Amino acid sequence: VNGASDSDCWLQRFEVSFEYPVYFTRGVFAPASPVLADAIGRLEPTRRQRALVVVDEGVAGAWPGLGEAIGRYAAAHAARLELVAPPLVLPGGEVAKNDPAQLGALLARLHALRLDRHASLVVVGGGALQDMAGFAAATCHRGVRVVRVPTTVLAQNDAGVGVKSGVNAFGAKNFLGAFAPPFAVIDDFDFLSTLAPRDRRAGMAEAVKVAALRDPAFFTWLEAEAPRLAGGDDAALARLVRRAAELHLAHIATGGDPFERGSARPLDYGHWSAHKLETLSGHRLRHGEAVAIGMALDACYAARAGVLGAGAAGRLLALLEALGLRLFDPALRLEDADGRPAVLAGIEEFREHLGGELTVTLLTAIGKSAEVHALREDGIAEAIGELEARDAGACS
Ligand SMILES: NC(=O)c1ccc[n+]([C@@H]2O[C@H](COP(=O)([O-])OP(=O)(O)OC[C@H]3O[C@@H](n4cnc5c(N)ncnc54)[C@H](O)[C@@H]3O)[C@@H](O)[C@H]2O)c1
Ligand SMILES: [Zn+2]
Repeated sequence: VNGASDSDCWLQRFEVSFEYPVYFTRGVFAPASPVLADAIGRLEPTRRQRALVVVDEGVAGAWPGLGEAIGRYAAAHAARLELVAPPLVLPGGEVAKNDPAQLGALLARLHALRLDRHASLVVVGGGALQDMAGFAAATCHRGVRVVRVPTTVLAQNDAGVGVKSGVNAFGAKNFLGAFAPPFAVIDDFDFLSTLAPRDRRAGMAEAVKVAALRDPAFFTWLEAEAPRLAGGDDAALARLVRRAAELHLAHIATGGDPFERGSARPLDYGHWSAHKLETLSGHRLRHGEAVAIGMALDACYAARAGVLGAGAAGRLLALLEALGLRLFDPALRLEDADGRPAVLAGIEEFREHLGGELTVTLLTAIGKSAEVHALREDGIAEAIGELEARDAGACS
């Protein structure tokens, strides 16, 4: 009231560092494997740890006897591990993030089972269940430990190794969410063998993304291995997952903004439209499928704008197609009340999700990118037309 000299400001400052191990393994629930017990007990190796395991319904269906195997694993490591309840099977796929009852039911179980902050929630499943259960854990007691066992190509190379969790709300992807690093991550390549070909392909889109942005040699390797990868070759898929996970992890650790406080999300190439297309398609499109289309759209746009060479754009489109990913979806044809492509609303929603100035990453060469702060609507509409024509050609 009496002027600035009467006010006082204490600048509160502290740092919190994070670390978590990411294991690459096979046979995680074989009784002889020390990995899960090591991961859960990594801070207090001599204490008996309480844990609840939740399993994606899709995984439980593809791996009959998995619940019993997890029980036998805990029995074999009883000195270090106590399951607070038999493994809980929960719906997987986007419904896990779309239906608020799923989150509520899991939180109610965590409450009933008296999970505390030193207990672990072990999540065995795809990216959608990882996101939902991770968010439940992040908010329960302000954060119980999460040990992720991602079971899809996408979750093992991207969603499962990162620091984000969340659910969809009000028709917006990841509207509710938290930045909460996991306690540990265990990528078990064996799980990939039962993935539906569609989900296997979708997950490879995120690997193409991070290769195109950061690692030209990995991109060239993906081009060379595309036939094997498209065919589901186990060793090739494991290498893809491993390298793409390393690139995602390196970005989080060294990119300077692990909790995305700035306005840019350098690894969200193709995502402004991908998130919108997922919603516009009523989640008929998988995240990875939408990302493939989103990257193709931005590559065509950038090539038309002269930002990306036609050769590099062609390589990106050809690689996605060689992996079996489709680059057009009828959702791109949807229009808003003014006759504009409905997907354009994704630009503002993308900005809103981050806050601040619109910042979109565009590829400028294989391995290089630049940030732009506006996208031209007519350019996007032309790129949509180009992808539709290419798709029609491919299908005729
Ligand atoms: N948090 C992040 O940083 C981040 C990053 C990228 C994507 N995501 C999110 O991840 C989600 C997509 O994840 P996804 O691609 O793993 O798909 P998903 O979790 O939807 O799983 C796809 C299907 O595969 C089934 N499944 C999972 N593992 C299986 C296995 N081993 N064998 C047989 N079936 C199996 C599931 O039950 C589901 O039906 C999206 O919601 C996306 O927004 C999050
Ligand atoms: Zn993504």
